[in-house]
Amino acid sequence: MKIKSFINKFFLSVGLTALILSNLNAQSSVTIQIQGANPSTTISKHIYGHFSEHLGRCIYDGFWVKDSANLPKKDRIRLDIVEALKKIQIPNLRWPGGCFADEYHWRDGIGVRDQRPKMVNTNWGNVTEDNSFGTHEFLELCTLLNCEPYITGNVGSGTVEEMSKWVEYLNFDGLSPMTLIRKQNGRDKPWKVKFWGVGNESWGCGGNMTPDYYADQYKRYAGFTKNYPNAPLLKIASGANSDDYKWTETMMKKVDPWMMWGLSLHYYTVPKDWGNKGSATSFDESEYFGAMKKTLFMEELVRKHATIMDQYDPEKKVALVVDEWGIWTNVEPGTNPGFLFQQNSLRDALIAGTNLNIFNNHADRVRMANLAQTVNVLQSIILTEGNKMILTPTYHVFDLFKVHQEAKLLPIQFVSPEYVYGKEKIPALNISASKDSNDVVHITFVNLDPNKSINLQTTLQAINWSKVEGLILSSAKITDVNTFDKPDSVKLVTFNGAKKEGNNLIVVLPAKSIVLLTIK
Ligand code: AHR
Repeated sequence: MKIKSFINKFFLSVGLTALILSNLNAQSSVTIQIQGANPSTTISKHIYGHFSEHLGRCIYDGFWVKDSANLPKKDRIRLDIVEALKKIQIPNLRWPGGCFADEYHWRDGIGVRDQRPKMVNTNWGNVTEDNSFGTHEFLELCTLLNCEPYITGNVGSGTVEEMSKWVEYLNFDGLSPMTLIRKQNGRDKPWKVKFWGVGNESWGCGGNMTPDYYADQYKRYAGFTKNYPNAPLLKIASGANSDDYKWTETMMKKVDPWMMWGLSLHYYTVPKDWGNKGSATSFDESEYFGAMKKTLFMEELVRKHATIMDQYDPEKKVALVVDEWGIWTNVEPGTNPGFLFQQNSLRDALIAGTNLNIFNNHADRVRMANLAQTVNVLQSIILTEGNKMILTPTYHVFDLFKVHQEAKLLPIQFVSPEYVYGKEKIPALNISASKDSNDVVHITFVNLDPNKSINLQTTLQAINWSKVEGLILSSAKITDVNTFDKPDSVKLVTFNGAKKEGNNLIVVLPAKSIVLLTIK
């Protein structure tokens, strides 16, 4: 009996000690310096762009619903989606693809709707595309959203003539064959679309081209897509797949900066591998850690592509445009594999915050980015089911980070605590900071460590302030999601973990959290 009670006490005390030690361990500390004097780099609002492809349920049964749908809509555009996107100040929307762009022929998507030719969407499930959502419908959507359209032309299976006429149709104000057709289709004035992508993934689904061949093609297309009066174009070349630095080098070597406003980069976080990407909702810490490590690779990608661009364009005239990024998992069980429909968890929100912090901190070169994709596809910010709509955890990150749009980037110095998993480690903390036109400072923090909070001691140099307010996005588990039954499981709440001590900002940043601090 005595032995049994001794053993019980022993294990109880070992258990308590382990708990106390693990609690002591469950914190790390860091000192941060933020420099507020004379910031010069503007964080372009276009870093906060989105992407809507004719893919799965993004356009059809996403933005664009049936005439019979019983919900608020303008024509067939869902207005609840429009309102949600306006709230996060969506600055631009990329369309019509993606891979779809290089088999899309814009003339099939204008004119009387029920007479438009149909096509097969061979990239995405071989579904029949009825072309009911075309140029006029997309531009109406952008008008409702009050955002810039970003149109990608067809280089893979189209012609220079086709793309140059699309520009004429959209941007010319005078009398011309294309403007006559536009007027017959009910639009008198040109839309003056600025952002034009010249093909998409021309190294892959956009034509399997070599960088040399594409660079030559690019110059043909760029040369014949004209700046009409008061409608200058900002042309974006199809850029590298992930770490294909040769692509960037070739483009920068062969194309003069004046011909190319931007050069793109596509990189997705694939938690496992392309054969089995991993589930969107059911993953352990090992898979979570792997996904975060892969997400942080974006920092290296941006830095290395930018370094190559610097050699040819030291004045940084050409923007690095990360016009496809986000997490790509297996589709939800039972859904069409060609539709790329995946749920969205707290993990995805942490991925979004990390990418946006990286883009902000490279705002001197990264001047546009587009999350893939807005509604019902990949890392969506909105999911729909019939008349219902939910905002995903990733949506809330864009809501938090919108304060950085067009603000001045503030330099930050710190050494991140490590997030250790097994024998591997990654930086647990990423941050970006900016000062807006009212001198209000905003800092966005992401703590990737799911187990440890971080104590931050922050010096704000050359910043006069008296008050700090905060918002936080977190949840009990990294796998937590919003569902149609529980749409607000993961949502923004007030954050009370920051205080002023002298001129220092003291913050306790919870594990697996994204925090916005407003300092004024
Ligand atoms: O976003 C889904 C697809 O991913 C796009 O169509 C293509 O550009 C990329 O490979």
